[in-house]
Amino acid sequence: MSPLAFDILKLLADGRFHSGEAMAGLFGCSRTLIWQAVKEIGEETGIDVFSVRGQGYRLAEAFEILDVTKIRAGLERAAGETLTVAVADQVDSTNTQLMARAASGGLHGLVLAAEVQTAGRGRLGRRWSMRPGCGLTFSVLWRFERTMSELSGLSLAVGVALARSLRRAGADVGLKWPNDVLLQDAKMAGILIELSGEANGPASVVIGVGLNLTAPGPVDQPVACLAQVGIRPSRNALLAALLNDLHNVLSEFDGKGFDALREEWLGFFAHLDCPVTLTFSHGEPVNGVARGVAVNGALQVETLRGLETFHAGEVSVRRLA
Ligand code: BTN
Repeated sequence: MSPLAFDILKLLADGRFHSGEAMAGLFGCSRTLIWQAVKEIGEETGIDVFSVRGQGYRLAEAFEILDVTKIRAGLERAAGETLTVAVADQVDSTNTQLMARAASGGLHGLVLAAEVQTAGRGRLGRRWSMRPGCGLTFSVLWRFERTMSELSGLSLAVGVALARSLRRAGADVGLKWPNDVLLQDAKMAGILIELSGEANGPASVVIGVGLNLTAPGPVDQPVACLAQVGIRPSRNALLAALLNDLHNVLSEFDGKGFDALREEWLGFFAHLDCPVTLTFSHGEPVNGVARGVAVNGALQVETLRGLETFHAGEVSVRRLA
């Protein structure tokens, strides 16, 4: 999106009417340019912008723009001392950006949130797309004392952090192994963890989170959002709450590992004692009953062969006839 279109989007985010003439005056350009930029917003983001003769332009749905000062104001002391928060209008992917920073000496605790990602990435090479204002997309660069081989269970630990904040916000979320956040059986948030650095030295990790507040626009799987259960938090306040919980959980994980968070994870596990099918990129699917997770984060499934543990695979719930 062009910088002008972005500036207009930020102005329209208040959900009020803004006339073409007033915006042309504000941005020092012609009304035709304003009209073209508004068209660009609709075409590039899928956001509905109403145009009413005599009144101007208005978004179908208002949203709160991300603001570093407001996010910082919501951070607890310890998180505030560790985290350096930045907000970008538009980037390819907050994970991609922080992975580059991780390789070039970027600070421990660097947080990058973006209003728009043009190449948002999901797990297993999938895309992650979201209309502006419909959710939160952010990443955190965390430099652990641990080595890469001591990070097992980290992705589950991050799920615990998100579930803590979202439960406090009033959403009855659950976790799907390894770390999708579910609301009413559909995915509401996803986590992408990428490792950087030497295998034997202290590990640096970029943790990316994408979370739906309202319907995210066209996506290739059923999704959930907080608004569907009547929860419409301030984006800045929720991001701060998530960062507080992430800070606490990552610090705890660095000191004690996943073992310290395992019981809490099991309390959020949406499929405990449910019949599940585990599918893999190669090989036959496995049927069984989900029984829990091991201290290294591996999924425990009771199959006909007994209790088996799995380090990879996609879980789906089997509905018994
Ligand atoms: C998943 O597939 O469930 C993981 C989705 C992770 C998406 C987030 S959005 C912020 C960060 N930047 C990215 O490109 N991906 C993650």
